[in-house]
Amino acid sequence: VRRAWVVAVVGICGAALAAGAATVATPAMAARAPASQRDLAAARRNLMPLPHEVVFRGAPLIIGRAFAVAIEGPEGTVEPRLQRAVLRMLDRLAWQTGIPLASRIELDPARAHLLIVYASAVPEVQQAVEVEAYTLEVGGDGAVLRAPTPYGVLRGIETFLQLVEMADPLVAELAPEPADFIVPGVSIRDAPRFPWRGLLIDPGRHFLSLEVMKRNLDAMAAVKLNVLHWHLSEDQGFRVESKVFPALHELGSGGLYYTQDQVRELIAYARDRGIRVMPEFDMPGHATSWFVGYPELASAPGPYEITERWGIQDPAMDPTSDQTYEFLGAFIAEMAALFPDPYFHIGGDEVNGKQWNANADIQRFIVDNQLGDNHGLQSYFNRRIQPLLAERGKKMVGWDEIFHPDLPQDIVIHSWRGQESLAAAARAGYAGILSNGYYIDLARPAAQHYAVDPLGGPAAELDADQRQLILGGEATMWGEYVVDETIDSRIWPRTVAIAERLWSAASVTEVEDMYRRLEATSAWLDGTGVRHRSGYTGMLERLAGNAPVAPLRTLADVIEPIKGYRRGRTREYTQFTPLNRLVDAARPESEVARRFARMVDEYLALVGSSGIDDSTAVSVARQLRAQLVDWRDNHELLIPLARASAMLPEAAALSAQLRSAAETGLAALADLESRRRTPAPEVVARRDVLDGVEQQHGALQVMVAAPVRRLVEAAAEASQKP
Ligand code: ACM
Repeated sequence: VRRAWVVAVVGICGAALAAGAATVATPAMAARAPASQRDLAAARRNLMPLPHEVVFRGAPLIIGRAFAVAIEGPEGTVEPRLQRAVLRMLDRLAWQTGIPLASRIELDPARAHLLIVYASAVPEVQQAVEVEAYTLEVGGDGAVLRAPTPYGVLRGIETFLQLVEMADPLVAELAPEPADFIVPGVSIRDAPRFPWRGLLIDPGRHFLSLEVMKRNLDAMAAVKLNVLHWHLSEDQGFRVESKVFPALHELGSGGLYYTQDQVRELIAYARDRGIRVMPEFDMPGHATSWFVGYPELASAPGPYEITERWGIQDPAMDPTSDQTYEFLGAFIAEMAALFPDPYFHIGGDEVNGKQWNANADIQRFIVDNQLGDNHGLQSYFNRRIQPLLAERGKKMVGWDEIFHPDLPQDIVIHSWRGQESLAAAARAGYAGILSNGYYIDLARPAAQHYAVDPLGGPAAELDADQRQLILGGEATMWGEYVVDETIDSRIWPRTVAIAERLWSAASVTEVEDMYRRLEATSAWLDGTGVRHRSGYTGMLERLAGNAPVAPLRTLADVIEPIKGYRRGRTREYTQFTPLNRLVDAARPESEVARRFARMVDEYLALVGSSGIDDSTAVSVARQLRAQLVDWRDNHELLIPLARASAMLPEAAALSAQLRSAAETGLAALADLESRRRTPAPEVVARRDVLDGVEQQHGALQVMVAAPVRRLVEAAAEASQKP
């Protein structure tokens, strides 16, 4: 072998101890990055979530046509789901490499290139805390994946697939057979930091097909998430067949619900991937769809209709009526049998109390039972529900509104309003999971979610026992603005950053390295079947109609939906508004804009340290200029298309903003390069232009104003190196 193998350790301290040059192929940007960043990239490759300990060393394993996998379980047994997992792995590996691999399990371990060994069987139903640890040793002679349980095997298989890379040409040359792909020599020890790593999907607002649910389970498994929180009832729809109360799905779903057979099918699909399925039936609020068939459950007489609009609704169950609990007891019995998970989420959020306030009997009940107020009444409701769940072997989970010291301590508080509620629950002895900070429906950047740690903020003050109560967290994909076609691109890739926060060491926090791995992982996730990348082009093609799509794509690449919940104010939305516009195609976080910003920062740093004539600075300036010219000239190409389409009302204005930003950037760059300090009046004018570029149009905004502003301000500064 003609070169020294890279040896690098990524320990739980997060530091990279790299010996020898990093020879991993890195993009041009990374190649210019400081040595420590390059070492970090080499030491971490494209692994995400980053394992707790990675040591790259020794010869690589070549992936050839004969690549074979064997699996050994305790006492000669192997769980069938692991056999299926290996077959899926081989399919994905073939897909990833183009190598025609036999989709077959090798029965003779001595002939396997990857040997999988696990020690113990596990109970049929996955618990909230399971052993998911594994080790993976890869060398020139083969690879061994060892785990105490099948869960560790499932997690380790994903790591193995993430390690597959194009072979270095030097290695390929020496290999006895064509060696286009390898797994580098590596020693990995890994286990999750938090046991509860979830994703909430909400087919209540917009129904989602089983196929979409399944492919998202595949992507979840790929990044080691292990809980699907299935938000199955909402004001806008009741989504599960009930045989006991058929009017729930018959009248409350508009015909869009999962049959019980489909529910079982999805649970089995998730179980195969080591993912729990926790149902949520939101009560006493967010429940209008229940009342369409069963108005007697509500706190005001009906009739009720399925809600078509978004926002908090007034209808709420009547907590004072014994009939309510009789109904819910029978309903919970039915659903507890359908969903094997030990946890059952009752929602409990956003009860505005208007129906309770307007009902004199309910107000009298509060007084007679000394419940204090509506919050006390909701606590009373929860105290009546909890035994109905316990009777069926279920632990109650609810949003942080349900927290009340009268409830037994085996319930779980799901924090959405702030991290303080999680800490408060833990101080009182309650387990908790965090979603505040993980609201992916708000279209915020991955880095923002990445910075949120379930044990950070107020939880940092907890003692060791209290910290143990914080089980993890969940990303929440609320369903107001997602449908089958778009949901993948709202979940992925940003949720991978949350998956890493929940799996990897707390010290793994380098944002640039996270984004580098996120981009690679996003492409790799295509192999699971999610369409977060491929769906984009199809939507843009449709919006462009007959015209060439390229100019629309250039614009779409640098715009993002406005952040937070402001979209609902830009247009009249109901459940039936088609979500097929530019705002639905545009990614929540633009990779192109982020790369441009990174390039601007790199350029300004180079100019600051080495001067304008530094050869790297000159080359980066050339790339910046090419990008800006592209954006500037795109406007004329896009205008005919934008004018011809009724579906693109905001495109022309956004495109004009992009042109303005580009012209401003080009002017600033020219000043920098010619060492012309921009005169004050021109600086003021450029700032004004960029203020304009930051204005939203429709529910969209152009994302390049901030980096262009940095160029403008740099050109306005007095001293520049000769
Ligand atoms: C919630 O976002 N209302 C839990």
